[in-house]
Amino acid sequence: MGDSFFINNLNWYLNFYKKNMDLLHSEIGSAKDNFKSPVHNWYKFTAGFSYKFVDGIIELENLKSEESPIIFDPFSGCGTTLVSCQKHGIKAVGNESQLFMLDVINAKLNWNLSEVELIEKLNNLKGHVFSNKEGVEQDFHTLLETLYTKTTLTTLYTIRNFIRRFEKEDIRLFFKLALSQTLHKVSIHPIAVPYISRNKILKNEKLPWDVFEDIFRGMISDLIDLRGKKRTSRVYNHDSRKKNQHIKYRSCDLCITSPPYLNNLDYGEVSKVHTHFFEITDDWGDITNKVRRKLVTGSTTHYKEAEFNTKDYMSSEFVIKNKEIVNRLMKLASKIKKISQERAGKKSFNILMLYYFKDMYEVLNEIRRVLKNGSKAYLILGDSAPYGVYVETTKLLGEIALNCGFSSYEIEEIRSRGTKWKSLKYRHSIRLSENLLILE
Ligand SMILES: C[S@@+](CC[C@H](N)C(=O)[O-])C[C@H]1O[C@@H](n2cnc3c(N)ncnc32)[C@H](O)[C@@H]1O
Repeated sequence: MGDSFFINNLNWYLNFYKKNMDLLHSEIGSAKDNFKSPVHNWYKFTAGFSYKFVDGIIELENLKSEESPIIFDPFSGCGTTLVSCQKHGIKAVGNESQLFMLDVINAKLNWNLSEVELIEKLNNLKGHVFSNKEGVEQDFHTLLETLYTKTTLTTLYTIRNFIRRFEKEDIRLFFKLALSQTLHKVSIHPIAVPYISRNKILKNEKLPWDVFEDIFRGMISDLIDLRGKKRTSRVYNHDSRKKNQHIKYRSCDLCITSPPYLNNLDYGEVSKVHTHFFEITDDWGDITNKVRRKLVTGSTTHYKEAEFNTKDYMSSEFVIKNKEIVNRLMKLASKIKKISQERAGKKSFNILMLYYFKDMYEVLNEIRRVLKNGSKAYLILGDSAPYGVYVETTKLLGEIALNCGFSSYEIEEIRSRGTKWKSLKYRHSIRLSENLLILE
């Protein structure tokens, strides 16, 4: 009876798993679904994953039936995991190291605002914008001057300055989010796909105020549907490579996340229009020091090659605990370096790769620390091939996770990726994929 009982159960589990994996369709790594879903669509963040991924995992893990489960997202982004969990009434905690994104997330999680107060403030603001008290004599950021007309910038700056004076933080963040989203819709060129596309021109048929008001009123109508729902999610402005004292040891039941991919986005650049507009940054120096340094190293713009110290690196905990993996990384690094010397750009992808895995080792340790024993972590990840040298990122991170205390890992391919760069002169022909890494 023992064996057949085990096999029957295993088959049932595999079928259940398969059914739910189908639910996790090939676009789960993309933000497309979010653009049509209330609250998820309050901010256009192209680097997000689908809320359907979070919903699917919650269903798969049968979490709603557990007593007060807590879900952890170390890379909260625009808050997809946190918002989805809150919609389900499930507790969630997250880290996000970009200040601008933190405000986006918090605005998306404050659902018990007074509609009357919001409308009253909107009318005051409208009166102020149309009386044009602040005039056109403002100093606009030079980058913004290339992306918006002067009249549009005058409206945007006037709104920004006025809402800064609101006393209540939740009200201020709500307005700020509507304004952040407006920045995407009234620019001359698309500003985040994921970077500025100067070869494309947007139509801009509406006045910036009308765009802002439409977005704002749309957000209010979503709020009405959510009224009464409790706040269950919380986000910290924290670098996930370090221990977050506010999230206790073995306190979480599940991790759902998507880390930066190796050699992919420079998040400091992705958000620069917004960070300049909201005066978090002013130039590239600020982007590096105030934004990039707090992020997992994901692109060559995140570090200065001269700062890489081989001796320090080789004596790090990552290297000591992952000797065999580091040997393989070193072989890949020297291959990449050799090719880079023949290329005009001479980019140090070798160093980028070494930093990336060290950073991710620190994050995986933090994920393991906060997860209860036997709990799973679901990570969406992309492979990479800097200078055509294939780096099996997902598998390597699975192996590194075993050295952080996880007992097993599994990889499910979601889709192939990177095909849109095919026409580039030096583009490699290696097939890259986006994967789901499941750690237990
Ligand atoms: C792929 S995005 C996550 C997207 C998210 N799943 C969503 O749907 O919005 C990665 C996010 O991690 C953040 N990040 C990168 N390094 C970090 C770190 N060390 N600690 C905390 N957040 C970090 C980036 O700012 C970015 O917002």
